[in-house]
Amino acid sequence: MINKINLIKIDIKNFQIKNSKDLENFYEKFISKKNIINNFFINLKKLDLKKKKAIGILLNNIKDVAKKKFKLFNLKINLNKNNINENFEDLTLPPFCRHEYNGGLHPLTIIRYEIISIFKKVGFSVLAGQEIEDDWHNFTALNFPKEHPARDMQDTFFIESENKFLLRTHTSSIQIRVMKNNNPPIKLISTGRVFRKESISSRTHCIFHQLEGFYINKNISFLDLKDILIYFINQIFGNKVKIRFRSSYFPFTEPSVEIDISCLICLGLGCTLCKNTGWVEIMGAGMIDPNVFKNCNVDINKYSGFAFGMGIERIAMLKYQIDDIRLFTENDIRFLKQFNNI
Ligand code: DAH
Repeated sequence: MINKINLIKIDIKNFQIKNSKDLENFYEKFISKKNIINNFFINLKKLDLKKKKAIGILLNNIKDVAKKKFKLFNLKINLNKNNINENFEDLTLPPFCRHEYNGGLHPLTIIRYEIISIFKKVGFSVLAGQEIEDDWHNFTALNFPKEHPARDMQDTFFIESENKFLLRTHTSSIQIRVMKNNNPPIKLISTGRVFRKESISSRTHCIFHQLEGFYINKNISFLDLKDILIYFINQIFGNKVKIRFRSSYFPFTEPSVEIDISCLICLGLGCTLCKNTGWVEIMGAGMIDPNVFKNCNVDINKYSGFAFGMGIERIAMLKYQIDDIRLFTENDIRFLKQFNNI
């Protein structure tokens, strides 16, 4: 049903209106009492409440798109009877008449929704975290030694002079909040903004988005971690991408790995994103360190678990072949329009 509805949206957009006859046909097809969108409203009755609501919103949205297009062309045709100049733009008209572009989801939102739906399919629930954290949740409980460079003033935006509160530097703090308040099994993901005192370049930003995931249960092993992450990478990038698990270090996991995939921008030929290596790191992961479990009162004799974290911008850059992270925040309509999905 959703596919059919989307096809109508494309039909509305592509419908050529050159004269009053076309306008009448457009009205008849998409707006009049007998319009084709209404047929879908009739079928809604058969659906359950959740689907009914979601599809209802979609249909109303399409009706709006049709009405706006009709208004725009009605005005244009009446202003300039029989002779519509495609490039003519009457600046005295209200904005909704001048532009057919209704906006759309930001590419980062699109990719976030996609990632969430991939993990939901294998039983992860989703939880929002908080952007303002304290040192304990962001660092100490995650087993960061006191002298760890990540605590350095250069990396962290502290809020108070005593350095107690800060803007979270990663989403891993959600692990602590959840483990403290819930008993295993726990299987969840969380996404959100993170903040680091970094200079802005084509590869790095001081505000970006991360996704954190973890699964704690009896007998969870590294193999479970590998299974889930390979499944995720194949879902988001396809089966052809090459995957590499590289041993690494994070204070909160032991053993720790970083996961690279073959660069999808240069296909291994060498570019700035992969620093000419042909490989791009997309996430960190590992088995949750016993010290983290102890800090959250999780019984280490009974439970084990894995965790992983990734930058959403990095995933979007690879998926959409974007070579500059700054594009996500510049609000350049020419960039955003390419993801127009409304
Ligand atoms: N928090 C790490 C970072 O910001 C990413 C990360 C690495 C998260 C390993 C994890 C993990 O959960 O297990 O770089």
